[in-house]
Amino acid sequence: VHANTGELALKARIVELEQQYVLHSWSKQGSYDSPVVVGGEGSWFFDSDGNRYLDFSSQAMSNNLGHQHPDVVRAIVDQANKLCYAVPSFATEPRALLAQRIADKSPGALTKTLFTTGGAEANENAIKMARFFTGKHKILTRWRSYHGATAGAMTLSGDPRRWAMEPGIPGIVRVLDCYCYRCPFQLSHPECKLRCAEHIGEVIELEGHHTVAAVLVEPVVGSSGIMVPPDGYLERVAEICRANDVLLIFDEVMCGFGRTGTWFACQHWNVAPDIMTLAKGLTAAHIPLGAVVVSAQIAEHFDDRTLYCGLTYSGHALACAAGLAALDAYERHEVIDNARAMGELLGSKLQRIADRHHSVGEIRGLGLFWAVEMVRDRETRERFVAWNQTSPVLTQVAKEAMQKGLFLPVRWNFFMIVPPLIITQEELLHGLEIFDEVLEAADREIGV
Ligand SMILES: Cc1ncc(COP(=O)(O)O)c(C=O)c1O
Repeated sequence: VHANTGELALKARIVELEQQYVLHSWSKQGSYDSPVVVGGEGSWFFDSDGNRYLDFSSQAMSNNLGHQHPDVVRAIVDQANKLCYAVPSFATEPRALLAQRIADKSPGALTKTLFTTGGAEANENAIKMARFFTGKHKILTRWRSYHGATAGAMTLSGDPRRWAMEPGIPGIVRVLDCYCYRCPFQLSHPECKLRCAEHIGEVIELEGHHTVAAVLVEPVVGSSGIMVPPDGYLERVAEICRANDVLLIFDEVMCGFGRTGTWFACQHWNVAPDIMTLAKGLTAAHIPLGAVVVSAQIAEHFDDRTLYCGLTYSGHALACAAGLAALDAYERHEVIDNARAMGELLGSKLQRIADRHHSVGEIRGLGLFWAVEMVRDRETRERFVAWNQTSPVLTQVAKEAMQKGLFLPVRWNFFMIVPPLIITQEELLHGLEIFDEVLEAADREIGV
């Protein structure tokens, strides 16, 4: 399909209005050019020029059910016809049913949910509850992490976007990561005996365990490079937390809801948090919704103490109806089984791609959550760019992919392969074929 003159004029007009009236996230505002997205279906989205893109990003790693899932769209329309919104102190059917479903699916003894409008707010409220419950104030997080862009959530994040907002909120202490490919302790698993987990215990001791309320981690790290923890790591961190009366908070905003091939990423291991935060896949991005799910023990603490948390849109009826329909869709259409099966295929195909391209340093991931870390030299693992730099070569590769109809997320030295969980084998192979082709540019750059 080719855009006609009228459509081209419309595109130019929308981009012009965006440039003039919209402030855009994480970018300099001086110039703006972007496709105008007009629709989507399944793993594809469409722009105003009639181009179709296979979405290897699930937009913001959020459209786990693809675009415009009919079950979720129908549920939103039905709910809109009944009741769009009630003040959070009133009960509503979709909120009650969704909270029950989340409790059923959640790991461990997590029972009660506070709804928010997104992931950052979920983390804000999680640390508030951890502080109320423990009476302590410090929160330990890792450098290679992202927990959201509000003032508190940005301080929780190790992600360098926090620099612009520092000093941030008080009481946040950062610890080193489980980044095995570039181990901060220069050790290898399993001989390392999980030094990175022990390090967290050491920091709790040095900070004073009587001051530490919680350790907050993404069970599988997302936008800092998709890092799957070594086996035993999360269990050991949980043990250290328990021994020190410190709560464990899992941020499952990106890695939850089937992304890694299980309902929640932590379910790959024998571990459960005291508090879990959710968003993105909860409604598969059809309507903004986040959640903080807490253990029965933490919930009971607030039976006779005021919970000083609240939002106008906590448990918005439309969002909860979308969440309920999304959870139904994950089950009814066996979406998480598909994520697991497609994830295995993706892992094996990526290995073949890595074997062919010398610019690929490491592939790592679980389910449909993969990173391809690029290097100038496989032996020395020399990076294309330093942390927080943009690689012109990788940017060019992603641009070429887009020209060939593949939306491929790129950051620093890595590509992310994070398609909708409903992707078919044919679509996955098609996207990987394009990826394989465009990686040639990176190989050329390093002269192989
Ligand atoms: C792990 C994680 N936590 C929290 C957030 C913040 O969520 P939101 O952008 O909905 O506030 C994100 C967003 O990418 C995330 O990846």
